[in-house]
Amino acid sequence: MRALNALIVRTLPLVPKPIVRTIASRYVAGESLEEALATVRDLNREGCMATLDVLGEDITRREETEQTVLEYRRALEEIGARGLDSNISVKLTALGLKLDPEFCRAQFDRIVEWARRFDNFVRIDMEDSSVTEETIRIFLEFHRRYEKVGLVLQAYLRRSVEDARRVAAVGANVRVCKGIYVEPPSIAFQGREEIRRSYMELVELLFDAGCYVGIATHDVALVERSLATIARRGLTRGQYEFQMLLGVAGDLRRRLVGQGHRLRVYVPYGEAWYAYSVRRLKENPAIAGYVLAGLLRREKPPVRTQ
Ligand code: FDA
Repeated sequence: MRALNALIVRTLPLVPKPIVRTIASRYVAGESLEEALATVRDLNREGCMATLDVLGEDITRREETEQTVLEYRRALEEIGARGLDSNISVKLTALGLKLDPEFCRAQFDRIVEWARRFDNFVRIDMEDSSVTEETIRIFLEFHRRYEKVGLVLQAYLRRSVEDARRVAAVGANVRVCKGIYVEPPSIAFQGREEIRRSYMELVELLFDAGCYVGIATHDVALVERSLATIARRGLTRGQYEFQMLLGVAGDLRRRLVGQGHRLRVYVPYGEAWYAYSVRRLKENPAIAGYVLAGLLRREKPPVRTQ
């Protein structure tokens, strides 16, 4: 399977863009805000909440941030105006974190002020390990000023338990995920089961501290372990939510919603969809296998994207 995944990734540049677009359309809501809002509306009708992500990361010029900031502002305005149940997820490298952390803070501040105006929540996505520490610092600074800012912790990083303690101390709202970037064994667990163990350790630690936890996974084993924890602790709907990516694990998603759990779908959109799809496939060739399987199954996407 690994060789096949690598082959798919190597030949990707040869695949015509319209075909990549067809594959990506399962995971990306579209290029425009209008398409993304239509997806959110459909998800809301299914009983799911959403989080909107304006695609674009690792920018190389400061000017590129302007469009992203304005897009988030429009998204927050329209979510409010249309009464949709969605918040936003932001990648700090799309705001220049790797160019100039102070510049990035100033841009993020504009987004947070818009969120405050519309009484909405802003999740800071977690990116590769070169920006973990700065991302946590920025989270802590902004959380002091506006409580509706949340963070993501990655279970594969060995440091995450310590980080969970730091952010639990301020009562953070934390999304826990496995982690999608390729990181070396010196800083990241590599084995499937050790990552699962770390995942549950983070979830338990955060629940112990009274934090609201976003359980972001499609791994049935982790969903089952989380459900057991939720039942054992007698947690109510207001203390956690499940989170999944658009186009992934529709059956599991419907099952959880049917059982009465809160569930949020991550909805990426924007003009940078091609770069995003290709980069994701290159960063983690395992995803190429999912893409191929999706193509072969020719499953209908679980939500209409337009
Ligand atoms: P695992 O990879 O074991 O997948 C379990 C099953 O789910 C697979 O067998 C497959 O069937 C299906 N599946 C998973 N991913 C799929 C895909 N892309 N396409 C098709 N099928 C797929 N990471 C990060 O580093 N920083 C972040 O901020 C976030 N944010 C985030 C938000 C949300 C809502 C989710 C769900 C995930 C993230 N992630 C993330 C990604 C996360 O770290 C992780 O890479 C993926 O969720 C895959 O891990 P699972 O826990 O689903 O397990």
